[in-house]
Amino acid sequence: MLFERGQVAVVTGAGSGIGLALAHAFAREGLSIVLADVQVDALAAATTAIGEHGVQTLARQVDVSKSEQVEALAAAAIERFGRVHVVCNNAGVSPNGDPWMGPISTWEWVMGVNFWGVVHGIRAFLPHMVMSGGGHIVNTASIAGLYPGFAASYDASKHAVVAVSEGLYHSMQSAGLPVGVSCLCPGWVRTGILDSDRNWPAEMGERPPVDPVSEVAMKYVRRAIDEGMTPGVVADLVLDAVRDQKFWVFPHPDFLQIAIDRFHRIEEGVNPVAPEDTPGMPPRSQMMAEMMAAMGMPPA
Ligand SMILES: NC(=O)c1ccc[n+]([C@@H]2O[C@H](COP(=O)([O-])OP(=O)(O)OC[C@H]3O[C@@H](n4cnc5c(N)ncnc54)[C@H](O)[C@@H]3O)[C@@H](O)[C@H]2O)c1
Repeated sequence: MLFERGQVAVVTGAGSGIGLALAHAFAREGLSIVLADVQVDALAAATTAIGEHGVQTLARQVDVSKSEQVEALAAAAIERFGRVHVVCNNAGVSPNGDPWMGPISTWEWVMGVNFWGVVHGIRAFLPHMVMSGGGHIVNTASIAGLYPGFAASYDASKHAVVAVSEGLYHSMQSAGLPVGVSCLCPGWVRTGILDSDRNWPAEMGERPPVDPVSEVAMKYVRRAIDEGMTPGVVADLVLDAVRDQKFWVFPHPDFLQIAIDRFHRIEEGVNPVAPEDTPGMPPRSQMMAEMMAAMGMPPA
């Protein structure tokens, strides 16, 4: 897809991190930007910053897990600009809390934002894009969408985003509809993702606490994210993918081998093996020893 001044890009989770960088990148190309985020202060600051590119903006507070709010976003965008050319279903959260013993609300929140948010975004904008001549949909998954091992609810939501994106791609291809699809699968990116619970919805009750075992892993994940790729570099790769009609966006190809090794084990019928080495992280055996100590158990 060729970018032209006056085209319109919608970005969810535009208040921070990758979403904010996507908004900047599309604005630099002259596109008008529809910014959606659940966090009002971040949304306001982002809208001011994007306006400085000299493009038109529309800001909406939206919880992407709620279909009616995403539909209202689509209606507002179309009413204001008449057309939407690019939709980035990017808003996402990472969980705290034990997935098996902790509250079920963790699963509901993560699946609500990461999975349902993407489904709602596609369903709200796709009919308009098809009827108005086409466009491009970018779904933010994660490398956690290609192999599990980060946090169970997060992995499940991101596997689902990869599956939804491929399903959408096949549907568009087989029907010959002019809507491109890209699936963004980053590794570590320097954003606010580890502090996702700043947007924990009050209606879901108490915020799940971080358990001591997860705290050990979180310490290292936070370091990896703080030293991770800048969101601007990720956003530039997304723009290249939209321009070139490329489905996969892998900002961190060094993670891919872990997914490939997993599929070799699947082919051979070998039981799952957690990777010993993940880019940016200490060896797994070292982390396991620290986790055993956090549980007050002797080293294995
Ligand atoms: N940072 C990483 O290392 C990394 C790696 C892989 C994938 N991702 C994915 O990138 C996407 C963007 O996250 P980020 O890393 O920029 O984190 P971030 O926390 O900096 O940005 C996420 C944005 O989403 C917004 N948001 C949260 N819940 C929302 C909701 N219910 N409705 C609307 N907006 C909501 C937040 O307010 C925030 O502005 C997410 O889907 C995340 O899973 C991030």
